[in-house]
Amino acid sequence: MERRRYFAACGKGLEPAVEAELRELGAEGIDVRRGGVAFRGDQRMGYQANLWLRSAIRVQEELLEARVADANDLYDAVAGLDWNRWITPDQTFAVYASTRDNEDLRHSGFTALRTKDAIVDVIRQAKQRRPSVDTQDPDVPIKVVVQRERLRLYRDLSGASLHKRGWRPIQVKSPLNEATAAALLRMGGWDKKTPLADPMCGSGTFLVEAAMWATNRAPGLHRYYPFERWIDHDVDLWESLREEAKAAARFELDVPLMAADRHGGALELARQGAFEADVDKLITFHNNYAADWVPPTPPGFVVTNPPYGERLGFGDDLIGSWNSLGKFLKGQCPGATAWVLSGNPELTKHLGMRAAERVPVMNGAIDCRWIRYQVRDPSEVEDGPSQVGDSASEEPAS
Ligand SMILES: C[S@@+](CC[C@H](N)C(=O)[O-])C[C@H]1O[C@@H](n2cnc3c(N)ncnc32)[C@H](O)[C@@H]1O
Repeated sequence: MERRRYFAACGKGLEPAVEAELRELGAEGIDVRRGGVAFRGDQRMGYQANLWLRSAIRVQEELLEARVADANDLYDAVAGLDWNRWITPDQTFAVYASTRDNEDLRHSGFTALRTKDAIVDVIRQAKQRRPSVDTQDPDVPIKVVVQRERLRLYRDLSGASLHKRGWRPIQVKSPLNEATAAALLRMGGWDKKTPLADPMCGSGTFLVEAAMWATNRAPGLHRYYPFERWIDHDVDLWESLREEAKAAARFELDVPLMAADRHGGALELARQGAFEADVDKLITFHNNYAADWVPPTPPGFVVTNPPYGERLGFGDDLIGSWNSLGKFLKGQCPGATAWVLSGNPELTKHLGMRAAERVPVMNGAIDCRWIRYQVRDPSEVEDGPSQVGDSASEEPAS
């Protein structure tokens, strides 16, 4: 099969998770960039990436890399490709552009327009007809990225963001994006065997993603992709990969996955989401304040995303939530590894624990830290200094 070049886009800071997933899939030529990972593989690899990547939000095939000083160069480079290989006059397409640090191509709308003109001209010259533009649901979405004088042009296999797995019943107030949750779990190093808890689970994203990962469910099995309408789409190959993915799924799990939230409505959403994803039987749900929650099994691993004020109302008792989480960790999770997503360094102090590691990540547009805490186990004899203290002043501002 023909070798192709791909790019899997993800949130900034989450690249290591995508890289690890691509290595598992057997991708070649892996090149980690800011906001995604480039790789090589055949058509099968492109399909597999869409079906199996948990941490990426889109997979694109690179059709062109060129140097472009201005709009004329852009037109010539794009018109140099035989677009009849990819788009017929009966199909629709759309061009999305992003540009940076190029004086002549500083407007993304103009860059998209010149690219579209070049594509239309090539097809019209060969076929005397042209494809039309549909920006809502194009058959062939094209992405152009200009940075200084470097142009990269892709056709986008994924369309709607890959975080849309199809299990979330409705949009909720401050959910964690599914791809971000999956990436954070992987970067945190959960081994799929250690009892896992989220004491502030909201709509349950961490635990649903954990259950899907641990049972080897392909996250992209229940969605639609633009490439299914492409002229070079290999229906048999795609169907066989989907069948393989269905056969690989497990439905039982030995490890306890435990979710709690003080808000009954949030917990109901988490239950519904888990039901839609067909992992509801693998997770226990508990309507509790974190400080009072006694999970059925002591969790050796905790992942959570407490409120930090950017999205929830300011009326929330944010400090109380962080105090409550600290109490839970110290009281119920001796010896555990806990990862906490914070978008506000002022609030992390109120956990009253010392961070062991801080990883900068973006959660949507919010600059966050994925922070690791090693919870002390009081039953163990200590030789060295404790990593956990009760003093709020132990947390240096990040
Ligand atoms: C930012 S949201 C979590 C979003 C979640 N990761 C998701 O995927 O939807 C924070 C959650 O913490 C819960 N919460 C805040 N304080 C709490 C406390 N003291 N005990 C339990 N839950 C709490 C809120 O009800 C809210 O659902």
